[in-house]
Amino acid sequence: MSARTVHIKSFGCQMNKLDTALVSAALQNAGFRLASSVKEADAVLINTCSVRAHAEQRVLSHLGHLKHIKKQRRDLVVGVIGCMAQRLGDELFDARTVDIVCGPAQIPQIPTLIKQALEEKKKLLSITEEIRQPLGDDQTQALEKFESVFDQAEKDIQGQAFVRAMRGCNNFCSYCVVPYVRGPEVSRPPAAIIDQIRQLAEAGVKQVTLLGQAVNKYKYAQRRKTCCLADLLEMASEVNGIEWIKFVTNYPTEKFYEQILKAMADLPKVCNYLHMPAQSGSDKILRAMNRHYTASQYLEMLDRARDIVPDIAISGDFIVGYPGETQEDFKATIELVKKARYKNCFIFKYSPRPGTNADKTLQDDVSQEVKRQRNTELLAVQKKISTELAQGLLGKTVKVLVEGLSKKPHLDPAEGDIGPQLVGRTASDWIVVFNGPPSLAWNFANVKITKTSPLTLFGRLRR
Ligand code: 5AD
Ligand code: SF4
Repeated sequence: MSARTVHIKSFGCQMNKLDTALVSAALQNAGFRLASSVKEADAVLINTCSVRAHAEQRVLSHLGHLKHIKKQRRDLVVGVIGCMAQRLGDELFDARTVDIVCGPAQIPQIPTLIKQALEEKKKLLSITEEIRQPLGDDQTQALEKFESVFDQAEKDIQGQAFVRAMRGCNNFCSYCVVPYVRGPEVSRPPAAIIDQIRQLAEAGVKQVTLLGQAVNKYKYAQRRKTCCLADLLEMASEVNGIEWIKFVTNYPTEKFYEQILKAMADLPKVCNYLHMPAQSGSDKILRAMNRHYTASQYLEMLDRARDIVPDIAISGDFIVGYPGETQEDFKATIELVKKARYKNCFIFKYSPRPGTNADKTLQDDVSQEVKRQRNTELLAVQKKISTELAQGLLGKTVKVLVEGLSKKPHLDPAEGDIGPQLVGRTASDWIVVFNGPPSLAWNFANVKITKTSPLTLFGRLRR
């Protein structure tokens, strides 16, 4: 019998992208083939996100679509994995479409679950019962082993890879579902992380991004010394072949802050890029969000970052329309954004998440209309800043790690002869689009910036 095929569709953050990459590699190692569409697949997996209601609605509408397909193809196996699987558990079976529900801590079981579902045609549920309890040793070991399956599937290796530094989260920001679906915060052993980075480098990876919900809180107690993120960055820097190291996401806290910035300043491989969400500029709202800093403390931290790493690029996240957010609170957010001068920021409308403290104790009292207005207004403020920062790069030559072909065919017909349009990123995470040979994919290139937009730089390849 020819190999069974699996199609994976992924929603959500970089943590999910990493899980999808790991599951894809594990399935291939187990003899499955990956399919690029549902049509060619014996099984479909959806890796899901619960962070906002909208993300869940997208998954539910996708399940609606699969329900139709399943009417014609009764033997199609449908699996829901990731945060929504953990949050909703067997409720997901209600729609009748779903055969497998598997939480983020159970992903090593996926190849077995799919085999079982294909053979036995029964509903399979594997999630964590007590999500805030530490995982048992067996499960932790299974997850650890699973982390390094990626490097086996050589054809999947690109020039960049995500590497998990931490699992879970203990911050309990009042609005956030993550601690309830990804479990308690655990830092992975530094030796395992570095070993994995070494293997990725041997397979040709040039950039690694260390991942954690609050990766700057990375802390692993060892016999002689506790290893913090700055130590991990130093160790990763010593790996031959790795040229750029990034890390996301950061929780604004003083702990290890200077060490991390000094590592960024001193270690050439550590990229000068800091994603550090503020969420709000109002102290009242920050308190209600259970974020442990004030707006002025946050801005002082940004000043310090710029003192230690003068050309640092900073980005952030904001939530608008949090319960109780008045026009005055929102003005404070605008002021903070103006002062912070982010390279870019991500702005979200507050979305109540079941089980969180905000949902249990606060009324979602800002109307959709006001949330939408505030979102648009804040985006406009940031757009102006991003435009100015991008224009500051006009005429400069930047180093880019090329990712591959850009979605649009050609930037500049006059440049057409040197190749199609490529896209890549700088060390400070600017997206750069330019014409060049596709063979540059996952190589470094020098590009002279000739045109800018708020989010993208355009330029010419320097030879
Ligand atoms: N509503 C809106 N945005 C949220 N985020 C997290 N939880 C919520 C929520 N309930 C945003 C935060 C976080 C980003 C990943 O998603 O800004 O930094
Ligand atoms: Fe959610 Fe806060 Fe943890 Fe980020 S730090 S994942 S916002 S609880």
